[in-house]
Amino acid sequence: SKPDLEQCFNLTDFEAVARRVMKKTAWAYYSSGADDEITMRENHAAFHRIWFRPRILRNVEHIDLSTTMIGTPVSIPFYVTATALGKLGHPEGEVVLTRAAHTHQVVQMIPTLASCSFDEIVDARQGDQVQWLQLYVNKNRAITKKIVQHAEARGCKGLFITVDAPQLGRREKDMRSKFSDVGSSVQNSSGDNVDRSQGAARAISSFIDPALSWDDIPWFRSITKMPILLKGVQRKEDVLKAIEAEVDGVVLSNHGGRQLDTAPSGIEVLAEVMPELRARGLYPRPPGAPRFEIFIDGGVRRATDIIKAICLGATGVGIGRPFLYAMSAYGEAGVGRAMQLLKDEMEMGMRLIGARSIAELNPELVDTRGLAAG
Ligand code: FNR
Repeated sequence: SKPDLEQCFNLTDFEAVARRVMKKTAWAYYSSGADDEITMRENHAAFHRIWFRPRILRNVEHIDLSTTMIGTPVSIPFYVTATALGKLGHPEGEVVLTRAAHTHQVVQMIPTLASCSFDEIVDARQGDQVQWLQLYVNKNRAITKKIVQHAEARGCKGLFITVDAPQLGRREKDMRSKFSDVGSSVQNSSGDNVDRSQGAARAISSFIDPALSWDDIPWFRSITKMPILLKGVQRKEDVLKAIEAEVDGVVLSNHGGRQLDTAPSGIEVLAEVMPELRARGLYPRPPGAPRFEIFIDGGVRRATDIIKAICLGATGVGIGRPFLYAMSAYGEAGVGRAMQLLKDEMEMGMRLIGARSIAELNPELVDTRGLAAG
């Protein structure tokens, strides 16, 4: 038996329940990080080294959490990031996340390696709900082109090219669980025969093109009008290159600590990047400059984490595992509650630091001296 949903008071509570109720192999795939999982732990721990510098007496009666992310109005600046194999955690898979995202006016990033087919996830969309596509670039560019153009035709509003996974990381927890059921859990268009002897991650990665390079970016521009963002940027020099390459933004991310262990956390990189962009006059964006938005993901578990990222200059944050855990333990209602808890936490957090709107969050409200780049 598991606690009533109302007994989950924060995102970490869902993790504890999921760990108890999920199948071992599924838990291993969702919860694992690469190698010693140092980066995975650091992702959340890094937020603890940032302190607030709250303002008082600012009339915080009305708090507005709404903002926009690459042109999309959202109720709160987080999105459901792409996580593969939703049916490991819930028989209905990713559409469960789609429904909760609709209820809460949150964007969902659809993974290339979803368990549901892409069309099922799009068909589950309601009203003016917005979805983005996460792309693993196939060695066969004809397949990639087809995926991208189909996504655009079906109304996806953003293309997030994953750039931190030329080869999938070594997740030993996952390998030990000897995952054998991948074929039935993934219905993507990778089309390759897969090696299933080394865990879910390895089995599904064989088609990803390790030869992908900056030179490929113009080609993506030529095949789609969707905004293009690079997911998995990990240092400021590559943010500068991304601006030069005229993509629409980046996600500072280490793939939830599942790729290169001891890679830095997104929030740490953000603190390194933003002063450099400000010094170069690249942020805020100069008049007439093309759009460039910076997101982070990894280890976001509290609304205070979201607030810190926005203060430092992020447009929004991605959240992965917590929604998988909420979905696995309680289905759509669980994901909905997780989102509502974040909204409640965020409203309170904003009030307590003295900010009424997302626009009022700025670096002056945080003390980053505890970070390497602080
Ligand atoms: C991921 N992530 C991921 N990223 C991606 O670009 N393509 C993918 O297929 C997946 N799959 C995936 C599966 C699982 C189970 C997890 C936990 C993560 C990475 C994901 O988009 C994001 O970067 C992290 O999940 C963010 O960290 P948190 O919120 O999980 O700590």
